[in-house]
Amino acid sequence: MNTPCDMLVFGGTGDLALHKLLPALYHLHRDGRLAPDMRILAVARNVLTRSAYQALAERRCRAQVARTAFDNDTWASFAARLDYFAMDASQSAEFGRLAKFLDAGSCQRGRIYYLATAPNLFEAIAENLAIARLAGDNTRIVLEKPIGHSLESAQEINAAIGAVFSEAQVFRIDHYLGKETVQNLMALRFANALFEPIWRAGHIDHVQISVNETLGVENRGAYYDHAGAMRDMVQNHLLQLLCLVAMEAPVRFDAEAVRNEKVKILEALKPISGLDVQDKTVRGTYAAGKIGGQEVPAYYFEKQVDNDSDTETFVALQVEVDNWRWAGVPFYLRTGKRMAKKSSEIVIQFKPVPHRLFEVSQANRLVIRLQPEERISLQLMGKNPGKGMRLTPMELDLNLAQVFPQKRRWDAYERLLLDVIEGDSTLFMRRDEVEAAWAWVDPILKGWLEYYQNPRPYPAGTDGPEQAQSLLELQGRSWQD
Ligand code: BG6
Repeated sequence: MNTPCDMLVFGGTGDLALHKLLPALYHLHRDGRLAPDMRILAVARNVLTRSAYQALAERRCRAQVARTAFDNDTWASFAARLDYFAMDASQSAEFGRLAKFLDAGSCQRGRIYYLATAPNLFEAIAENLAIARLAGDNTRIVLEKPIGHSLESAQEINAAIGAVFSEAQVFRIDHYLGKETVQNLMALRFANALFEPIWRAGHIDHVQISVNETLGVENRGAYYDHAGAMRDMVQNHLLQLLCLVAMEAPVRFDAEAVRNEKVKILEALKPISGLDVQDKTVRGTYAAGKIGGQEVPAYYFEKQVDNDSDTETFVALQVEVDNWRWAGVPFYLRTGKRMAKKSSEIVIQFKPVPHRLFEVSQANRLVIRLQPEERISLQLMGKNPGKGMRLTPMELDLNLAQVFPQKRRWDAYERLLLDVIEGDSTLFMRRDEVEAAWAWVDPILKGWLEYYQNPRPYPAGTDGPEQAQSLLELQGRSWQD
């Protein structure tokens, strides 16, 4: 993109913009990573003056940014980039006003449109940008997940966006791909010869991918109640993690090569439909319980959630990747809100040694932890000091914050926003990737409806419904705690 460029954030008063995007842009500004004349224009329906928006943004950024990173001078220079434009983005006539407002500043600037809105506005915004001649070559569009709520709606959105922007101009964001440890997973697999020969069926017993949160739906009930954990987390974040664990080495580390390999995995996922839905999936919804000693209400009593809702806040799945490398290796996926503790991790459970020499023996396990701390640990068997061969499990433990103590940990959005500005789409989802993920998820959603698989209740502050434990226990396995 030719500089100078501006970023327009549609949904500028929403949670994503205020909680994630602006703090990330503030950090990039503070680190001198934004072009000096780059402007940020928040767009939303609320009637606000520029200074009222700046004050709102300051309040939210202060709460979000570490105290040591927030100072008044830096904020003042950041706020000078920040402007606000009130409009209803579903009305095409409003885009004429927006075009005039933008042209008043300059006409030849590059523009990034960040759609931090509900997906049902994506098509209208793209079309209206085109009608108002705001969608030229020197523009990019960023779409937040979920892209639609089914394969059909995702295809419609992709087609509408594709009619206005070329695929190279479209950045479909999945913020999990911006997390350091997720990128480290690629480094671990493809920059170390050590793991490759054993990274396959024959050596790996199973894989677990868990993303557990203690948060509930906060003030996103209206959105969440129509999405649920499957659309909010599995269709995107968890399947992306699975792709990075399972994919073949790309021929180059560039956008097309990496995404080609990920698509192959999504296409190799064995469909779960019909009766398999009952055996291989578990859905749950949190009941009242305690998190960190505090009573929290059941999901049905959260703000903007329907009291009769049958939306799931927990999903566990047994998935198979039907290809040569992974034949017969189960991938267990699990995600839930209001769980006992916040932790996101990938566990590669290796098979036991073929011939047991010692009394105590435990198979090796590689744990890649994304949150709360970034860690990679390898569980090995070692000898207890002293006479005899008494063995015990021990860990080779790499804590990335300790390896790089002087480095501030970037938030995923910082990295991804910078990639959009620089035009690097390696860590963004391509159109066929999103559609392949929906094509696999849709039959599960349908199966839940067909077989009336209502969510199982689990008390907030626990590990989810019991059935999620049985999913593994029936196969002689258990979730890594
Ligand atoms: C978002 C989901 O994409 O990811 C949220 O919409 C979820 O429901 C969040 O809480 C989790 O992200 P992180 O980075 O906190 O693990």
